[in-house]
Amino acid sequence: MSNKQIYYKLYSEFYNVNKYRELKSMAHHGNNRLDHINRVSKLSFKISKMLKLDYVSCTRGALLHDFFTTDDIKRGKNFLKEHPKIALNNSKEYFELNEIEEDIILNHMYPIVKGKPNYAESKVVCFSDKIVSVYEFFRYQLKLSVNLLILFFIK
Ligand SMILES: [Fe+2]
Ligand SMILES: [Fe+2]
Repeated sequence: MSNKQIYYKLYSEFYNVNKYRELKSMAHHGNNRLDHINRVSKLSFKISKMLKLDYVSCTRGALLHDFFTTDDIKRGKNFLKEHPKIALNNSKEYFELNEIEEDIILNHMYPIVKGKPNYAESKVVCFSDKIVSVYEFFRYQLKLSVNLLILFFIK
């Protein structure tokens, strides 16, 4: 099996669930949440394979790290602090998780949120999430705010 096939085999387990597919219509960093998740997961897959870590748990954890809908977050008060817990609850409701995968989801916001990643696999996802978020900020959010600014001036 090629790396691409392995990745999409892991991804398809989650994509078969309706609630997970809903992430495609959720805004995230100026784009949609499923695209963000796939970027983080593909990077985590590559890094963990390269470092000879448990790449299956690493990729599965990454694929679930932001598994929350807009409705879920309305219930939580502090988005930054609460969304990893909500993502973990959702993940446990729909899928079987091991300890590494749970740790990845719960501690992916370190150091913004307290709670250090306990496994090398969790550190990989935490790092990949930051890299991808910076990339998305410049690619989508900054572009969006520049466009809004232009719109504001030409109006
Ligand atoms: Fe997150
Ligand atoms: Fe994320």
